[in-house]
Amino acid sequence: VHGTLIHSLSPTSLQVLPNSLLTISSTGTILSLQPNISPSDIPTILAQQNIQNIPLLTLSHGQFLIPGFVDTHNHAPQWMQRGLGQGMHILDWLDGITFPNEAKFADPAHAEKVYEKLVRGMLRQGVTTASYYASLHGEATRVLASTCFKAGQRALIGKCNMDRNSPAFYCEASAEESIQETRACIRHIRGIDPEGVLIRPVLTPRFAISCTAGLLRSLGDMAREDDGSLAIQTHFNEAAQEINATLSLFPEFSNEADLYSSFGLLTQRSILAHCTIMTEYEIGKLRELGCGVAHCPTANMTVGGGFMAAPVKEFLRRGVGVGLGTDSGGGYSSSMVNAMRHALVASYARDALYPKFERRRRDGGEEATASGDDGRSGEMERGGGETLSLEEVFSMATRGGAKVVGFGERVGAFAVGMEFDALVVDLRDEVVGGVNVPLEEGDEPERMLEKFVMTGDDRNIVRVYVKGRVVYGEGCSNGGIGIS
Ligand code: GUN
Ligand code: FE
Repeated sequence: VHGTLIHSLSPTSLQVLPNSLLTISSTGTILSLQPNISPSDIPTILAQQNIQNIPLLTLSHGQFLIPGFVDTHNHAPQWMQRGLGQGMHILDWLDGITFPNEAKFADPAHAEKVYEKLVRGMLRQGVTTASYYASLHGEATRVLASTCFKAGQRALIGKCNMDRNSPAFYCEASAEESIQETRACIRHIRGIDPEGVLIRPVLTPRFAISCTAGLLRSLGDMAREDDGSLAIQTHFNEAAQEINATLSLFPEFSNEADLYSSFGLLTQRSILAHCTIMTEYEIGKLRELGCGVAHCPTANMTVGGGFMAAPVKEFLRRGVGVGLGTDSGGGYSSSMVNAMRHALVASYARDALYPKFERRRRDGGEEATASGDDGRSGEMERGGGETLSLEEVFSMATRGGAKVVGFGERVGAFAVGMEFDALVVDLRDEVVGGVNVPLEEGDEPERMLEKFVMTGDDRNIVRVYVKGRVVYGEGCSNGGIGIS
C-alpha cells in the first residue's frame, strides 16, 4: 500500500505517516513501513526488497488507512433486537426483550442465519476484531465461532453462563451442565484455531445475578487452571438496579470488585463491560489486577437506566486499559464510529452533569445501600473536570481495544511484525456523493480523521483487511459468507 496511514501511538496521541509505503507478506504480516516515499521511488524500493509482481494499492487525497476497529463488547444474538427497549432499566429489558430473543438460538439453523448477517454486518463496518457474548447454547456458540473463522473476522467467542435468576425457557439446568458446555465450546474453538490467531474462547459469566456462587467459582478455577491465556468477560457495575440486585444476592460483599475477584474472575485477561458507577477503591483494584474496561457509551445512555457516563478519564489517568464497545444490541448501534462519537458526548455529559447525577442517586435512594471504606458511599464525586479527546476515543476504538481483548501484540497499529488489520477510509465526493463528510482540498490528515469520526459512516469504509486478507470491499473472497 502507498498512502497516508493514521494510527495511535499511545492512549492519548496519534501518529500520521504520510506517503508511506507498506509491504505485507502473503500471510498478512507487515514486512516494511517507510514513510515519506515519493511514488516515483516505489519501483526501485520494491526491487531492492526483491518484491515483484505484487498488487499495489495507491491511495490519493481523501483516502487514508487506519487500523481495523476492535469492538470490545458485543452480544451476537442481539443482532436482531437492536434498537428495542430504549430507556428501560436493565433487568426489565433483559426479561422483557433480551431473554425471549436469545432463547431462539436453541435452534442452530436460526443461529446460522443470524450470525452470518452479524459477521457480514460487523466486517462491513470495519470491525476486524470483536469480543462476542453468544447465547447460553453450546451449539449456537460453536456456529458463531465457525462463522467468524470462515469469514476471517478476529473474535473472542464466549458461551454465556447463566444458571439462575433467568426464565425457565432460558436458563441452564445446573452449574455442572454450564461448565461442561463451556468446555465443549473451548475445545471446538481451539480445535479450529489452535494458535488463537483469529478466534479464541472467552469465559462469559453473563453477570453475577445470573450465576450461582458455585458456577462463578468453577469458572474462576477454569481460568486459573488454563495456561493463562483464557480471557474472561462479564458485565460490571453497569447500573444502579443491577448493582443493588447483585449486592443483595451476595450480602457478604460491599462492591463488585471484591465479589468477582473472590471467585478468581478478575485477571489481566478480564474484560469488564460498562464500569459506570465506580468507587475509588474499585478503580484501584482493577488497576492492581490489570483488568481492562469495555466502555459502552451508547448503551450506557439509552438502556440500563439512568443515563450513565462512565469515569473514563479517571480510568485512563490511573492506567486502567480502556477499549470501546458497541454493546450491540443494548447499544442500538453496531457502529464503532458511532461509539467514538458517543464516548465524546458521554464525557461532556459526565463533566457537566455528574454532580447532579450524584445528588439524584443519593436523594432518590436508588444507590446501592452498602457502605464502608470500600463501599459504594465512597463513589467518586465528580467527573474529574476533563473531557475525552478525539485522539483518546480513536485509540480506544483501535489500539486500546486490541490490548483490552488480548490481541494487542498483533493488531491495533501499523508496525513491522504486526498483522495487517486495516480499513481504507475514503472521504472523496465520488464515494458517498458528498452527502456526509465535507472534504476540502486542503484538509490535512488529522482534519480528515476528525471529519470521518464526526460525520462519516460505513459508506466511507471502502475496504477492510484482516491479517492481509480482504474481508470487505473490492477483491474480497470470503469463504462462502458472501461478503462483497
Ligand atoms: N447484563 C447482563 N446481560 C446483559 C446484556 O445482555 N446487556 C447488557 N447491557 N447488560 C447485561
Ligand atoms: Fe452487554
